Amino acid sequence: MNLLPKSCKEFSDKDYWNKFFKKRGNKAFEWYGEYLELCSHLHKYIKLKDTILITGCGNSSLSADLYDVGYESITNIDVSEVVIRQMNSINAHRTNMKFICMDATNTAFGDDEFNVVLDKGTLDALMPDDNEETVARIDKYFSEIKRVLKFGGRFVCISLLQSHILHKLLETFCDKSWMFRVVRCHEAEEKNAEDGDGTTLPVFVVVATKFKVMPQLILEVCLAGEKMVRMSTAEELAAYVKSAQDTAFVTNGLAKTNLHEDNEVTLDLIQPGEDTPRYTLFIVDQKHKQAVNKYAVFIVPQGRESEWLFGTAAGRRQLQDSARFGRLVVAVLRRGHSFGTLDAVKEELAHAAKMLIPYGFSGMIPFLSLGSDVGRRVTVHEGTSPLSGGYIVEDVDVEAHTHRRLIFLDNQFLVQSEARLKEGQYP
Ligand SMILES: C[S@@+](CC[C@H](N)C(=O)[O-])C[C@H]1O[C@@H](n2cnc3c(N)ncnc32)[C@H](O)[C@@H]1O
Repeated sequence: MNLLPKSCKEFSDKDYWNKFFKKRGNKAFEWYGEYLELCSHLHKYIKLKDTILITGCGNSSLSADLYDVGYESITNIDVSEVVIRQMNSINAHRTNMKFICMDATNTAFGDDEFNVVLDKGTLDALMPDDNEETVARIDKYFSEIKRVLKFGGRFVCISLLQSHILHKLLETFCDKSWMFRVVRCHEAEEKNAEDGDGTTLPVFVVVATKFKVMPQLILEVCLAGEKMVRMSTAEELAAYVKSAQDTAFVTNGLAKTNLHEDNEVTLDLIQPGEDTPRYTLFIVDQKHKQAVNKYAVFIVPQGRESEWLFGTAAGRRQLQDSARFGRLVVAVLRRGHSFGTLDAVKEELAHAAKMLIPYGFSGMIPFLSLGSDVGRRVTVHEGTSPLSGGYIVEDVDVEAHTHRRLIFLDNQFLVQSEARLKEGQYP
């Protein structure tokens, strides 16, 4: 069945959608995720008593699921009369939920009617490019959203945030009468990867909250965990989003292909709001030899990363040869960060480990290490030399002995000098 458009321009064409939903029948086609993957975000930004407008509802089951968990006032609109007919019939027993055939760029609603406008994939469909005609259509769409939302109301938009779309959103909602937040939805991405060929694009939830006027611009991003990071400019926010998209580009490539034996890929994982990477991952593939197992992640304890086996490409290749895994991800815990237990580190690495799964691997990801903890690294002295720049002296544990090391920070995987400390002589 040829269900996807030949050119993405057709995404904004009503006849295209009528044909799409006729061919599809009553079988739901979900863009970017379903209630289960999205609910943790939606429940945060939508209250049960809110009046909700869902634009471009399509035949997604999202509104029915929201209704069934207690959202009482939902109005769905779509430009396709075919899908509105289908949805009215499927949802006849959900008596208080409305499905109306209406153009989201020119609605019949009054000003300040809704607490929430919810868009899943519709903005992306309406804005395939940024030519003049498209931008004029999006201006109309956004001015309708601004008009129908009450003060304190939220525009919640689930999108892939292609750069021209993010740019338009920021141009429209990045001022002192809107608070603008971008949250990455890992749950939707993981589901999309599981359902498809293992690759996925980052899915974002944008929340723009309408205010009268605020004393300052509020722009926030959350790309991992719960921590919101304040941005000072729209450009800074756009750069954050782009870095997540670029990383996905690399991991998608790694999900489909094996690296050549002589190559390895390095990825830094950085926590939002911090300047230095928390982890560095080295991805090594073994193509020609018989791999016993497909995939594992090896966690290098703190302080051991400068040893030949972990700190050089040849060493990591040997580690992989001896471990006999098709793909080995060597994870280094970077200096300057504190780490809890080995289990906490595994949890932090779980998402990245999933994103690097090679094609054909399924099941639990084995995490390997040298012992049962993350190792110990204590900074004894830090300084800057006019000759060699920043340096650090640190104590690390190597096979039950404490070693004191001098490291030049511009080459952190190399130990400049090292001495084994005598027991009891130093604190
Ligand atoms: C990518 S689909 C998303 C469908 C649904 N929200 C989902 O998550 O599965 C885009 C939807 O927007 C609808 N649409 C396109 N242009 C529209 C417009 N101007 N007004 C309202 N709906 C529109 C299409 O009919 C289609 O159902």
